[in-house]
Amino acid sequence: MSKQTVLTGITTTGTPHIGNYLGAIKPAIEASENPAFNSYFFLADFHALIKCQEPDRVARSTREIAATWLALGLDTNKATFYRQTDIPEITELTWILTCQTSKGLMNRAHAYKASVDANREAGKEDLDDGVTMGLFSYPILMAADILMFNADTIPVGKDQVQHIEMARDIAGRFNHQFEPLFTLPQAQVDEETQLIPGLDGRKMSKSYNNTIPLFCSSDELRRLINQIVTDTREPGEPKDPDNTLMHLYRCFATEAESAAMRQRFIDGIGWGAAKTELFEYLDAQLSSPRARYNELMNDLGEVEAVLLKGAERAREYATPFLDKVRHAVGIRSLTDTSSTQQQKVAKEKEKSEEELARAEEGRRRAILMQISPLLEQVKQAEDKTAAAVTLIAEKSAEVEALKKKARQKAQNELDLLKEELAAYL
Ligand code: TRP
Repeated sequence: MSKQTVLTGITTTGTPHIGNYLGAIKPAIEASENPAFNSYFFLADFHALIKCQEPDRVARSTREIAATWLALGLDTNKATFYRQTDIPEITELTWILTCQTSKGLMNRAHAYKASVDANREAGKEDLDDGVTMGLFSYPILMAADILMFNADTIPVGKDQVQHIEMARDIAGRFNHQFEPLFTLPQAQVDEETQLIPGLDGRKMSKSYNNTIPLFCSSDELRRLINQIVTDTREPGEPKDPDNTLMHLYRCFATEAESAAMRQRFIDGIGWGAAKTELFEYLDAQLSSPRARYNELMNDLGEVEAVLLKGAERAREYATPFLDKVRHAVGIRSLTDTSSTQQQKVAKEKEKSEEELARAEEGRRRAILMQISPLLEQVKQAEDKTAAAVTLIAEKSAEVEALKKKARQKAQNELDLLKEELAAYL
């Protein structure tokens, strides 16, 4: 069986935080170690332009995310790691797919609908106020990312599931219309890793401003952990072990360590002491990749080279595959006169000619059956020529006398009689 292809993209608008690490980066790197999968991971920097108009931020985020994945040990010999904008084939495919995607499908996209709803609530007359074409057709760019590599499985957050379904729709439509070139992708959502809590206990997310950057300094890490919201129980009072500190601790620690920590909450460890424990545990775990991260951030030439190599590898697949897609839709060299579509039409024509001939043959046989007694009479007559001439004259008169529709029927008989009796006439 051929390998399954796993693919995911990261929009380059922010600084990687602990939620990104646990929810996306760590499981992706682990999956890439599994030889049953072909992995494609990329920096979705064209997607960044949709939501971010701060060029320096996009550029910084791209550096940070690239360095983060490498610092965490992504083996780029195993996974293909690249930057979306280094693959011009993706942009080209985006246009081809745009031409196959109904506007109605895009009207249903959550991100677009959310903007429309916000405008409606704000009482704006133009419901599309502030909506760019980038935002509107965002799912098509994403479909191109996925379909370009015939990916089977797309690990994503819940908010992205609809986009994967749209990619399936778009692929299906293309396959039907042109050639079955695209694999239909499937979203993979890991419920558990979706729930990493942030400083305020809500899901850790850029949009809630409650994140802990993965590679901030030790001092910053301590400061942020101290900000985690807890209740007012005093040291010595038993604490609910299902709290944010415990949740974060458990994401990093072993089961035995987690069980011990849980007990300490029940036994009444003070929040301050628990925060110190969490800080020390995370700091110890993150110190080595953080050092590597800092090294890479000081040697971005190396990171750039890794990305360019990844792009080269990605294009080894994308370039010939896009050629097939271009051919399928009719974008071809002038000297390439073979044409799938044309062949299809030609085949259909051939088929219908055959069908016509068969129908014609049937029609002829039916008439012959009807006129066979007349033919017999002529053949039995002494003066065959006279009999044939008389018969034709009679039939001609009959044709003349008839109304249009009936006339056609008689005309057909007359034509065949003339043909069959040609020898005598
Ligand atoms: N839109 C995704 C996000 O914001 C990122 C992304 C872009 C992506 N292209 C993709 C994810 C292709 C999976 C596959 O999270």
